[in-house]
Amino acid sequence: MASSSGMSGEVPDEINVGLMGLGVVGTGVAAYILGKASSLAAATGRNVNLKKVLVRDITRARDIDLPSGLLTTNAEDILADAEIHIVVEVIGGTDPVENHLKQALAAGKHIVTANKEVMAKSGPELLALARKNGANILFEASVGGGIPIVGCLMNELAANDIRSIRSIINGTTNYILTRMANERTSFDQALSEAQGLGYAEADPINDIEGIDAAYKLTILASLAYRQPFQSADVYCEGISRLEPQDFRYAQELGYAIKSLAIANLDDGAVQLRVYPALVPSEHMLAKVDGVYNAVEVDGSLCGQVLFHGMGAGSEPTTSAVVGDLIEVVRKMGSQSRSSGSQEWAGPGNGAALTVRPIGDLQARYYIRLDVADNPGVLAQIAQVLGDGEISIAAVLQRDTDAEAGSAEIVITTHPAKGASMQDALQIMAGLSQVRRVSNVIRIEE
Ligand code: HSE
Repeated sequence: MASSSGMSGEVPDEINVGLMGLGVVGTGVAAYILGKASSLAAATGRNVNLKKVLVRDITRARDIDLPSGLLTTNAEDILADAEIHIVVEVIGGTDPVENHLKQALAAGKHIVTANKEVMAKSGPELLALARKNGANILFEASVGGGIPIVGCLMNELAANDIRSIRSIINGTTNYILTRMANERTSFDQALSEAQGLGYAEADPINDIEGIDAAYKLTILASLAYRQPFQSADVYCEGISRLEPQDFRYAQELGYAIKSLAIANLDDGAVQLRVYPALVPSEHMLAKVDGVYNAVEVDGSLCGQVLFHGMGAGSEPTTSAVVGDLIEVVRKMGSQSRSSGSQEWAGPGNGAALTVRPIGDLQARYYIRLDVADNPGVLAQIAQVLGDGEISIAAVLQRDTDAEAGSAEIVITTHPAKGASMQDALQIMAGLSQVRRVSNVIRIEE
């Protein structure tokens, strides 16, 4: 292949990649680069070679046969190698990855990363560093696995004012919720299945408590609203409080329970939140099952667009990583910068939009209470809600335990302000007839 000269320098025919990480995703990426060299060459016009692979333990048995000498435990073998043009990072986490990425960018290397945590925490800094050094950093695989949502927000949907993003962006929780809803599997069993299938993070708390989704939502919102948000801006509730009865009641009321990650613009402020929610069974997000992810974008021009696909696992994530790799190689030598830096941390993108606290959110609620089965209890609860200006939509009483003298009541409400609901719940929990406020879940219409 002939050398071509780009606008900002010679681009070599042979493009060398340093891969950091050889886990589930890294193995998929390495297998692609080694096994589909002609596809990569056809897509990029260059030969793309795997030059080094950073691992923690060279002696570990692996699912892939690699040419000898490729593995190293020393990051410097990639970072200090001037012949490596692109670093593909699929290790995850921030330590020591963030420093590796900064060092690579400072040396003018391009980066492809699947790392949502490092992008959510340090995206603006990394993008600025990339810009300063004439490098690109692409991160499609950081959100939604094989779903091309990052690139679409940066490019194809860039003309839109984004009204909202409603998404299911954690495959592990969606897998667990689907198993609990359909098979009545216990939470623990469903989690260990998800881990066995390679969906869950090393520390599954990040999945279950919504932290992984909060990182991903931070990235989507920063791109959609063109300003840097922090994951601390995302209100976050996990799924561990959900019990089998909640799925039964939800189904009876015509809802599925899904862990949603939502960003929406409301009166000049952005609301960012991750929580389990009741979603009407006929809504498309209610039908997203298993490890599948979905992202619904509501834009001023495009209206509602729904992306649906596999949000985790080796092959879908390899699709996103290699797609970015191809894009980076195609851009080499041109002055085309990472469009992320324009969308997210570009010059002049100050923090124009404030983040509205969760207490201001108007939502409908599902409340499940364990109460004493005595006359007047329901009236007391209705009084507390009425005093908080919270209007009841429906009441269910199904499970009574005559021996224990208790009953389970489920109440759904009309839209109420989060702060009023919190006050009412606190008062309710203090009523002598209320044994437990078992669960409170927002309803998304
Ligand atoms: N643990 C993540 C998930 C993997 O379950 O979605 C993909 O980011």
